[in-house]
Amino acid sequence: MRVVVGADDAIATGANLVAEVVAARPDATLGFATGATPAPLYAELARRRQAGLVDFSRAHAVALDEYLGLAPDHADSYAHQLHREVTGPLGIAREHCDFLRGDAPDPDEECVRYERVLARGVDLQVLGIGRNGHIAFNEPGTDVASRTRVVQLAPSTRQANRGLLSTLADTPEAALSQGVGTILEARRILLIARGAAKAEALERALRGPVDPACPASALQLHDDVTVIADEEAAAGLAQAGAIRST
Ligand code: GLP
Repeated sequence: MRVVVGADDAIATGANLVAEVVAARPDATLGFATGATPAPLYAELARRRQAGLVDFSRAHAVALDEYLGLAPDHADSYAHQLHREVTGPLGIAREHCDFLRGDAPDPDEECVRYERVLARGVDLQVLGIGRNGHIAFNEPGTDVASRTRVVQLAPSTRQANRGLLSTLADTPEAALSQGVGTILEARRILLIARGAAKAEALERALRGPVDPACPASALQLHDDVTVIADEEAAAGLAQAGAIRST
């Protein structure tokens, strides 16, 4: 596991990794996380694309998760957010984007379909981390072998995410999410954490035992994980002198 701490350095490291994956395989499949955390990474990648430094025209995009019940054209759906903030600015063609359908008539069947999509191979999965240590929508208690499925959201997750939706009452109580086991099958993983609110979760994820109580700790089982964090999110690691690049 490689851990890079710092604001600009960390974002550059993450952008270099994405660019390296696409340079090696122009038709790479990239898994994108939503949320506020990866925004500077996506902005940097869009800047590099504008400058002609990276080309995503043959790349494919997949999603980590989606709110149950929200259609892709719903302004608060993750599909909509990904098109608006990631695949649009990066120039990834719509027909190369295959996201979970929150409004699928049979959500369980949609999760099975998505496992088939992901089984073709994800070259790089970008991840954020929840304050409670969740990755995608895998809440504490999730088995490390879990697959894409319908999940209930923790009250704290609905609370933390409510700013993205109109009101807490409007925030769906369930979602479709890649499982922890599904995420671990990506060839490479890039975990991003920013801000003091993520410090405890990041410390547990990287330094604690692999424990379903902190789903992100399962990343310790993967052999190609890069973590980029700002100083605030890495505070617990720094105090313990545990920042390392291996
Ligand atoms: C949501 C998403 C996660 C994301 C997390 C953190 O719960 N399902 O994929 O990592 O929020 O979001 P943020 O980066 O906005 O803190």
